[in-house]
Amino acid sequence: MKIAPSILSADFSRLGEDVALVEQAGAEYLHIDVMDGHLVPNISFGAPIVKSIRPHSKMVFDTHLMISEPHRYIEDFAKAGSDIITIHIECESDIGKTLDEIHALGKKAGLALNPDAELSRVLPYKDKIDMLLLMTVYAGFGGQKYIPEVNPKIAEARALFGPDFDIEVDGGISADNIHIPLSFGANIFVAGSAIFGASDPEEVIRKMREKA
Ligand code: DX5
Ligand code: ZN
Repeated sequence: MKIAPSILSADFSRLGEDVALVEQAGAEYLHIDVMDGHLVPNISFGAPIVKSIRPHSKMVFDTHLMISEPHRYIEDFAKAGSDIITIHIECESDIGKTLDEIHALGKKAGLALNPDAELSRVLPYKDKIDMLLLMTVYAGFGGQKYIPEVNPKIAEARALFGPDFDIEVDGGISADNIHIPLSFGANIFVAGSAIFGASDPEEVIRKMREKA
């Protein structure tokens, strides 16, 4: 299992320190939530933020593009230092082509599904992805409540992709409920507010591992 703290809930006035803190606490992935105010209501940040933190961290930069036309920006994120670039099934780009472009840039490609998107929608792209991201809240905001109706989809995805495939879950996950998506078959766990909203993020990461 891997823990992926989301910098969406970090303190941007001290982003470098927050990134270093979760890296020292043993987080393997850094989850980077990019929002365009179009695919989702919120706007967060773009590739320059990725570029500025890249020299300070060895974590896997797990870039979650919640943007309508990701094909226009993947090269920027690849150059900025993203390792995994995940696009949404709900986006307007040509999904297959964009996944191929991510691979052509030498990066891993992920596909994200909002809670109401049926798993069958990934079937045409099954062989083009390195990771599936199942949203356990509707993409757009940190601090929402975990949607348990997604649980069967996690199990279905595990059965479909087999034991070694990366299935990430994102939204409303904390030390108190991480055992739930884990038990259904997820192996990468995003947490934003639970980690960066805590007075001791390191302790939360430790607890998430213990409880899982
Ligand atoms: C939601 C983002 C999440 C978010 C998770 O749109 O994709 O990664 O930061 O935040 P929490 O853990 O607070 O639900
Ligand atoms: Zn995310």
